Amino acid sequence: MRIQWGGQFATGHALVDHQHEALFDAINAFDGALEAGLAPERMDEMLAFLERYAREHFVTEEFLMMRSDFPARADHRLEHERLLLRVKFIRELRDQDPSLVPPEGLGRFLGEWLTSHILTWDLAFFRFLGEHPVEP
Ligand SMILES: [Fe+2]
Ligand SMILES: [Fe+2]
Repeated sequence: MRIQWGGQFATGHALVDHQHEALFDAINAFDGALEAGLAPERMDEMLAFLERYAREHFVTEEFLMMRSDFPARADHRLEHERLLLRVKFIRELRDQDPSLVPPEGLGRFLGEWLTSHILTWDLAFFRFLGEHPVEP
């Protein structure tokens, strides 16, 4: 399943939109690699990259939420943490034995998580930020 970037995901924040687009690309690349039947080590590298990049992106959003004193920042942060824990768990299980967590379905899970997270949590925050801008 490919996820397609579109205007409905735009937050209006250039860096965040860039990071989101890069996450779309990384998830699609992961999914594509799966279809192409890449070696498990390569899949794990791609998963580790996704985890690192998502972590970096979450720090960007969490910093903006802190600076703007966004009321729902604790809950939004928890959503990020849950995803990272889940990915870390999957990665660690695969480190032990790749057959424990077959990669099928992972791309779909990540794509669905990202699109629904942006449309609900991220857009709500950036709407708030638009109404309560912070000094750069
Ligand atoms: Fe985001
Ligand atoms: Fe977020």
